[in-house]
Amino acid sequence: MAGSHHVLVTRLVPQPGLEVLRRCCQDVEVNPHDRDLSHQELLERVAGRHAVLCVLTDHIDATVLDAAGPQCKIFANLAVGYDNIDLAEATRRGVMVTNTPGVLTDATAELTWALLLAASRRIVEADRFFRSGRWAGWGPMQFLGGQLAGQTLGILGAGRIGTAVALRSSGFGMKVLYCDAIRSQQLETRLGACRVDLHSLFEQSDYVSIHVNLTADNRHLVDESLLRRMKPTACLVNTSRGPIIDEAALVRVLREGRIAAAALDVYENEPQPAPGLAELDNVVCVPHIGSATSQTREKMAIMAAENITAALTGCRPPNLVNREVWKD
Ligand code: DGY
Repeated sequence: MAGSHHVLVTRLVPQPGLEVLRRCCQDVEVNPHDRDLSHQELLERVAGRHAVLCVLTDHIDATVLDAAGPQCKIFANLAVGYDNIDLAEATRRGVMVTNTPGVLTDATAELTWALLLAASRRIVEADRFFRSGRWAGWGPMQFLGGQLAGQTLGILGAGRIGTAVALRSSGFGMKVLYCDAIRSQQLETRLGACRVDLHSLFEQSDYVSIHVNLTADNRHLVDESLLRRMKPTACLVNTSRGPIIDEAALVRVLREGRIAAAALDVYENEPQPAPGLAELDNVVCVPHIGSATSQTREKMAIMAAENITAALTGCRPPNLVNREVWKD
């Protein structure tokens, strides 16, 4: 039975998520455009809502929280990352913030491997060359890339996604290093992985894959000096958040051939790449599609919707991020 709750969904999400909301809420307004709402539109549309299902491109700051009003209980983010939401401001107002952990781990790990393989074997560059009509036949020196077997994979951030990426390396016969504040018994026991510090990870790995959450403290964690510690044959993969890497510095080291390649799903100033990035042959770029499988996006939509229905029916949302706002 639908209750008298008014919910805003800031982008069209898979139907099963909307159905969960419609069963519980009288009014579910979905952004009708195939684009983000502007900040002004967001301010207007959140007004009077009891809940908002938002996406990672919505910047939920104090102005949006104020515009929503004191009746608004929850902002449910359709992402595992929630760096687009001012958590401190939400918490100060007693507004719950939720995310969608777990359901996108496999999809993101799979994309990470797709990027790693594409970069190491120069798949995109070779595909472009083939389509250009310039291929004159097989050649022993054509498109030589890097092999994975016997090479070292470095995982920066051994949480859910970093662990899933590392576990998939056993099929490729790779050695695994990882860098994390917390020791991973699982990676050490199952893969014989070694925990190392940040500098050693970048110095010793042939492939470095980034899986840390973006926080106020780790913007440009991967800066120019760290990039210059990498092997000249190394490849950097990022499916976490763009601002973790100094993207202008990455362009410099790629242009100089100081590292062999990079493969990116995320960018410092989405949707704009750093100047020069898109012109480089030794980088594979995809537009933030880590969780973009039909199965995963459906699960994410259901999860975000269930966080909202829990909050609106007086229950603790299962994926509450700012746990301090919940009073039993
Ligand atoms: C996330 O969930 O944080 C992803 O970036 C969305 O695809």
